[in-house]
Amino acid sequence: MINKISFLPWVKSLAKYDLGKGVRSVAELSNTNEKNIIKLASNENPFGVSPKVKAFVEDFTHELNRYPDADSYLLRSGIAKNLNISSDQIFLGNGSNDVLDYIARICLSPGSSAIFSKYSFAVYSLATNACGAEAIEVPVDTDFRPNLERLADSVKANTRVIFIANPNNPTGIYVPLKEIVAFLDNVSESVLVVLDEAYFEYIEDEQIKSINLLSSYPNLFITRSFSKAYGLAGLRLGYGIGSAEVVSFLNRLRQPFNANSIAQGAALIALKDKNFLQDSIARNKLLRENLEKELSVLALEFLPSKGNFILVNFSNRVDSDSNSGIGQIVFERLLRKGIITRPVSNYGLPDWLRISIGTETEMSSLLKTLKSLFAS
Ligand SMILES: Cc1ncc(COP(=O)(O)O)c(C=O)c1O
Repeated sequence: MINKISFLPWVKSLAKYDLGKGVRSVAELSNTNEKNIIKLASNENPFGVSPKVKAFVEDFTHELNRYPDADSYLLRSGIAKNLNISSDQIFLGNGSNDVLDYIARICLSPGSSAIFSKYSFAVYSLATNACGAEAIEVPVDTDFRPNLERLADSVKANTRVIFIANPNNPTGIYVPLKEIVAFLDNVSESVLVVLDEAYFEYIEDEQIKSINLLSSYPNLFITRSFSKAYGLAGLRLGYGIGSAEVVSFLNRLRQPFNANSIAQGAALIALKDKNFLQDSIARNKLLRENLEKELSVLALEFLPSKGNFILVNFSNRVDSDSNSGIGQIVFERLLRKGIITRPVSNYGLPDWLRISIGTETEMSSLLKTLKSLFAS
C-alpha cells in the first residue's frame, strides 16, 4: 500500500542528518559507565548551565499543564532590550536549526536556489533540499576561508538565500565583519543573507557589531543560539534577528508553540547571568589555545577556530589502507578510550576530526590519549 503514496520526489533523495554518537550508546557498546565517557562531539557547553537557570528549571513544575506563551513576550522583550532593537525584529525557534529551516521555507521552493560555501554547516543544504530548491556550494580558498567575492558572483536570477556561518561549523573559521559588510554591498537586496552566529558569544575583538548592520541592510538576517555558550542545548532555543517584515513572514509559517515554556524562562535567566557566560567564554579560550599548542607539538594540522571546537587533520600522522578515512580510524581509536569526537567525512573531510572543547579534566584526558597515540 505504502508505494501508492506520492511522496515529494526531492524528499526521497534526502539523507537523515548525521548526529554523531551519543554518550548512552557508546557506554552501552563499550560496557563503560556513562560517567566515564567524554563527549567532545556536539560543540556543547561542557561547563553546564548558569546555577540560576538550574534552580529555575528544578523549580518549574507549576505550569506544566499550560501551553507556553505563544508570542514568547518576555523573552523577546529581554533579547530586544539587550540588543537595543524592537521585539518585532526577533523570531524564536526550537533551536536555531528551527529558525534556519523556517527561513528556507519562506524563501525557497523548486526552481529557486540557495548558496553557501563548501564545508558550511550541514543544515543549509538539508533545509534547502527539503524545499526542493537547488543548493549551490561555492569552493573555499585553499586555507578553507570562504571566498565572499566568489559567493557573491555565484548568485543566479533564481537565488533567494545565502547562508554564511560565522564562525563556521565544522571549520571554526571566522570572517571579520568588515568583509561581511563589503560582501553585503556586493549582493542584491532581493537575496536574503543569513548570518548564522550560533557561536557569536565566543567572538572577541570586533569593533563593528553585526546587529548594527541591520538598519543599513534590510536583507540581512542574523541567527543565534542558546545551545552553545549559554549551555541550553537540551532545552532547544534559538533566535533570528532581522527586519520586522522578514519576521512577520516567518511568523506566518511558525508552529504556535515552537518555544516551550521552560526554554523561554530559562533563556531569559541565562541572558542575565553574565558571570556564567563570561566564565564559560574565558575557560573555552584558555582550553582552546592550550589544545592548539599541544596539537602543534604533536605535528597535527588544525584550522584556527573562534568557536568551542577545533578541526584537526590526521592525514600526516596515520597510515591508512582502508577506505573508511583517517578521521574515522582516529575516531574509533579515541572511542575505545571512551572519548567521542565527530568524524566529518559527511562534509567531504575524511581525514579530519572535529573536537569540541571540554572541561579542564576532559581536555587533559584527551591530550593524554592523543599523546599516547601520536607522540613520536
Ligand atoms: C553553525 C551552526 N548553526 C546552527 C546550529 C544549530 O544549533 P541549535 O539548533 O542548537 O541552536 C549549530 C549547531 O551545532 C551550528 O554549528
